[in-house]
Amino acid sequence: MTLHVRAGVSLKPFNTFGVEVQAKAFAEAHDDYDIRQALAYSAEHALPLLVIGGGSNLLLTTDIQALVLRMVSRGIRIISDDGERVIIEAEAGEGWHAFVLSTLEQGLSGLENLSLIPGTVGAAPMQNIGAYGVEIKDVFHSLTALDRQTGELREFTLSDCAFAYRDSVFKQQPGRWLILRVRLVLSRAAHLHLEYGPVRQRLDEQGISQPTPKDVSLAICAIRSEKLPDPAVLGNAGSFFKNPLVVASLAAELKREHPGLVGYPQADGQVKLAAGWLIEQAGWKGYRDADAGVHRLQSLVLVNYGTATGLQLLDLAQRIQIDIEQRYRVKLEMEPNLY
Ligand code: EPU
Repeated sequence: MTLHVRAGVSLKPFNTFGVEVQAKAFAEAHDDYDIRQALAYSAEHALPLLVIGGGSNLLLTTDIQALVLRMVSRGIRIISDDGERVIIEAEAGEGWHAFVLSTLEQGLSGLENLSLIPGTVGAAPMQNIGAYGVEIKDVFHSLTALDRQTGELREFTLSDCAFAYRDSVFKQQPGRWLILRVRLVLSRAAHLHLEYGPVRQRLDEQGISQPTPKDVSLAICAIRSEKLPDPAVLGNAGSFFKNPLVVASLAAELKREHPGLVGYPQADGQVKLAAGWLIEQAGWKGYRDADAGVHRLQSLVLVNYGTATGLQLLDLAQRIQIDIEQRYRVKLEMEPNLY
């Protein structure tokens, strides 16, 4: 089938902030062939190609003078199964949470802590998605990506991906790699990660002492739903800032100045500070300027109450960054990709 390219398409339904901008051209890729056609179209029309997944990690500040290609490829298959260790492959366009649920339905453990994260399978390795003590790198097997510079396919193993906190080789080389399909190693026995306090607490409250992966998933869905706004109801892109990594001496100084400071020592000696705590203490929680705001329950999340533009959200983010740097000598880095 020929790729269906439409001109002048609103991207409002395709970014979870719900920001209104237009794409000069827009198409959806169902398979590798569509992607090849999109690359050819982009070259022929001298239009850059911007690939998006669920649009949940995007801040669009202007009309996009590009061919926006939305990945909608589908397919989930088991590649190998030795009765305990299962390698499962999913196409990039699969919705992340639907994929997690399908693994749980197949009796597989490994993704329960990553339940209800918005976005697609293909976007997940980009920023090494993580929540409640687990990151995708912990269950990663390999992936296939298209090198947009050469047009060749390349396989990435775990070490090739250079995963770090909300970071990967794909994020470090923006626009180069187009992730087509991802393989994860899951297990038939439950290997649960319950060290994150609120998860244990929620299960205890429910009287569940021997949780299954599905129980953990449900607990995490409940915790997320309480704190994080549903993008279908209130536009947002999840955590807007990364939790900053600082040297131990600065963390110790800040702790003396602000005894309530929340920080987590890392294996490399740095300390990861809870940016949500810093932003809340600085008085931004629940702040609203026109339709751009800071969520009232989780200060790490910026929200669009309806008609905020990307520039208004960016302006708010920059005001927060400046304030936090002045108060705490800490630079907050934005998580979403900015266009
Ligand atoms: N906190 C505050 N005020 C706030 C928000 C948080 O004081 O407004 C404090 C909390 O009390 C807690 C600490 O900060 O002591 C950590 O808060 P939370 O558990 O809510 O997690 P987070 O650090 O704010 C990170 C991830 C989330 C992930 C959660 C759970 C980042 C940037 N964010 O948030 O990921 O779901 O941990 O593991 O690392 C995302 O990336 O979009 C995302 C939602």
